[in-house]
Amino acid sequence: MLTADQETRYTFLHELLRLEPVVGSLYRRTTADLTLDHQTSKVIIAAGSLIELHLYAINGEESIVGQQPLHRCPNRKMAARNPKVSQYVMSFGDGAHRCSGAYIAIQESDIFLRRILRLEGLRIEQPPTVTYNQTVKGYELRNFIIAVD
Ligand code: HEM
Repeated sequence: MLTADQETRYTFLHELLRLEPVVGSLYRRTTADLTLDHQTSKVIIAAGSLIELHLYAINGEESIVGQQPLHRCPNRKMAARNPKVSQYVMSFGDGAHRCSGAYIAIQESDIFLRRILRLEGLRIEQPPTVTYNQTVKGYELRNFIIAVD
């Protein structure tokens, strides 16, 4: 984070977010029958169904993200042929309601981490507690105390 160029750092942050999405599940309701191709068969989801999208499973799908999908690899070659699939896959959602703050989120994370990691004598005084947020089906880190000698 302190020595790489901006493109490399953003790629690294996207890869971390792919593996540990802050939001674990997204929901969509179908407005019409939805036909999905699955290998040699077709699956029809009826209009009005509520679909839960498991972001951890989608982001770790080998046919989309390539080999060793659960390994952290910023230089990974995406397997998906669709150029619209970004490196963080679904961590910022997709479609009309995709996160409008995605670019700000990555930029502010980059600025924050570079400023804090540059501090001399930075140390962890208390590791964070990790809890589960039922609303977004994701992790929450709290009470992470750091200090500078
Ligand atoms: C790492 C930080 C962030 C993550 C992981 C994140 C993730 C998400 C996700 C998963 C959604 C739902 C997208 C969907 O339903 O397809 C969302 C929506 C949204 N996010 Fe973020 N977000 C982040 C930061 C931000 C920031 C910094 C802003 C504003 C500056 C922001 C503004 C929004 C807004 C306005 C929506 C609602 C979009 C809509 O429903 O049309 N987010 N975000």
